[in-house]
Amino acid sequence: MRITGTGHASMRIDTPAGSILCDPWVNPAYFASWFPFPDNSLLDWEGLGQVDYLYVSHLHRDHFDAKHLTRFISKRATVLLPEYPTSELEDELRELGFASFIRTKTNEVVSLDGGLNVMIQALTSPTDGPIGDSSLWVEHDGVRVLNQNDARPTDLTTFTELGHVHAHMLQFSGAIWYPMVYELPQAAKTAFGKQKRERQYDRTWRYIDDLKADHVFPIAGPPCFLDDDLWQFNDIPGGAGTSSSGGDEGNIFPDQQDFINEYAKVGGSNGVILLPGSVTELTAEGGCHTTHPVPDVTEFFADKLAHLEEMRERKRPVIELEKASWRHPEIDVLKEMKRRIEPLLEESIYLAKGVGGPVRFDLVGYDAESVESIVVDFPGKEVRRYADEKVRYRFRTQRALIEHLLYIDEVDWVNSLFLSCRFSAARIGQYNEFVYAFFKCLSEERLQYAEGWYDEHQRSSDTEDVRLGDWNVQRRCPHLKADLTRFGVIEGNVLTCQLHGWKFDLSSGRCLTSVGHEIRAARAGETAAGD
Ligand code: FES
Repeated sequence: MRITGTGHASMRIDTPAGSILCDPWVNPAYFASWFPFPDNSLLDWEGLGQVDYLYVSHLHRDHFDAKHLTRFISKRATVLLPEYPTSELEDELRELGFASFIRTKTNEVVSLDGGLNVMIQALTSPTDGPIGDSSLWVEHDGVRVLNQNDARPTDLTTFTELGHVHAHMLQFSGAIWYPMVYELPQAAKTAFGKQKRERQYDRTWRYIDDLKADHVFPIAGPPCFLDDDLWQFNDIPGGAGTSSSGGDEGNIFPDQQDFINEYAKVGGSNGVILLPGSVTELTAEGGCHTTHPVPDVTEFFADKLAHLEEMRERKRPVIELEKASWRHPEIDVLKEMKRRIEPLLEESIYLAKGVGGPVRFDLVGYDAESVESIVVDFPGKEVRRYADEKVRYRFRTQRALIEHLLYIDEVDWVNSLFLSCRFSAARIGQYNEFVYAFFKCLSEERLQYAEGWYDEHQRSSDTEDVRLGDWNVQRRCPHLKADLTRFGVIEGNVLTCQLHGWKFDLSSGRCLTSVGHEIRAARAGETAAGD
């Protein structure tokens, strides 16, 4: 089996029974903020796009690149479709001209022609991607590969049960706006960034240890930021806060070389970097031979700054062109937000209650000085002008970005505005997942799905307790039900679930990361907190 690196989470898998192209992403995503790193735009996409099968893991724009799919990927390719609760992914691909689909069932192996077997595991909570994320397992002639992508399954047993895996591709770097956009002193931002970076790696080690594949490929990040306004988000070796592995310890976007360095510290020696254009040959006996498009991979990463600077100059016109398309001064933002959001607030029970307070948007005008403040009032179920009140969250962004979201009728502000990092934020109290769940569900279909999911999730009681250290704790994490016997780590009275890094105070049962989500816990021999 041959794997060709095609950048970020993208790869092409070639077998004698057919080829699969996964998540081809080339054009900038999220308001021209994210670009693939290293650059993959100069690959031979005409050739790479001639494939038998296409797998798009989910609709995040660094996995689903409509422009690129339209221009370069053969419409004769059969799409391997994850089993999602809504038909959005299929609808969007059909619109681009794809006509042949295999609708897989989650966790069921599909046998394709020539002995090529695939299985897609779809995750469907409202917090997984834009309502859904997935992983692809592939087998041919005794070689098994898991492209876990940036999905975060609660465990990997479904895959291990199918036999020893030879290559494990998974995310290790950041794909979020926290803590960079928060209005915090730099020292606090660095401290939170460091924690986040460590949590990302802890989670990655956990998955690697669970699957025990012969070879591990760090993929699905980091992106790079080429706009001057966002340049500081790149993790540049030798810059401020350089860590022992070479990156900036407060930066959540470590690169593939940093992964290799950190992995070595925990005893990992089977990491393989796939640059765009790298080719790996895998054998059933565990063989793995990789060739790269550069003479020395370590040197390439040591010279990352030069690569980024060259890319920045080349991509400047692309960014300028995108920026010019965002302004729509004819749009009355307050009126449009009212029209779009109020009916959804009216319908929302779980999400509105979960947010529990007003959320304020400060929109900075074209003159970079005037500010219009609009409040999405979740308890009051209305969108209105800010009335000098306390708010749960405050987001400050350019008015033009909100105009553009309204202009294109964007239903997912997470998959556009928030991932762009083109905003700053402040909040009172803890992180609130319901805020982001709501703003990724700005359509009837999505909102109904999310409301139904939370309803069911809250009702399903988890009665099993397990012993962790000196504590009896409910087995399943109150966040997304990770098995705490695998993901739970206790230090003092605090349990950390390593799947997403949420923390719980076991003595009170309180979740320290987000509102709600109490945990049932008791010191062995006492009555449970949270009961
Ligand atoms: S499942 Fe998300 S933190 Fe536990």
